[in-house]
Amino acid sequence: MASGLLRLAVLISGRGSNMQALAQACHGRDCGAEIAVIISNRPDAGGIEWAGAQGLATEIVDHKTFAAKADFESRLLDILHHYRTDLVCLAGFMRLLSEDFVENWRNRMINIHPSLLPEYKGLNVHERVLADGCCESGCTVHFVRPEMDTGPIIIQRRVPVLPDDDPGRLANRILEQEHIAYPEAVRLISQGKIKIVDEQVEFI
Ligand code: GRF
Repeated sequence: MASGLLRLAVLISGRGSNMQALAQACHGRDCGAEIAVIISNRPDAGGIEWAGAQGLATEIVDHKTFAAKADFESRLLDILHHYRTDLVCLAGFMRLLSEDFVENWRNRMINIHPSLLPEYKGLNVHERVLADGCCESGCTVHFVRPEMDTGPIIIQRRVPVLPDDDPGRLANRILEQEHIAYPEAVRLISQGKIKIVDEQVEFI
């Protein structure tokens, strides 16, 4: 953190709209952080093209080109170290990371998920929320633990589920909140406003 800014590595697999929200917040000096590198495990991720066009450092680590998960993760680690990463931000990164990897970045890796965790972990969240007739949903930014979509919660933002919602409409309403929540979570971390006590986030 030589510049005083938290150096972020943002890991994506697709469109990267949360990555864009983070990059824009960093650009505006709004969240006490700077983008060190954007990493995608998919060469065709839309977000990588956007990041390159912004002049951000980008790296592709295509999981399909590695014989073993350990080799894939070892390459990721090399890149994270090369770019002197302080905080890893998973932003629609669709690979499950090993327990070793996650523990290595314990309390230095965060994720965003489009539900009010611990409800609706995993995939097809909006379909399940609608099928269950929930009247509210939202998004969660949390520290990453080895078990998928678990870990101390930093921020949640809520939205109503409306009578004529379909998964796409609900996803978009939540995504707007994700783009606020993720930079806010980074800001809280960069400003040292968070500590973890008994696996719960406390605000200092
Ligand atoms: C977001 O809904 C995020 O919560 C989930 O995957 C989606 C990624 O969207 N983990 P984007 O690639 O950031 O646009």
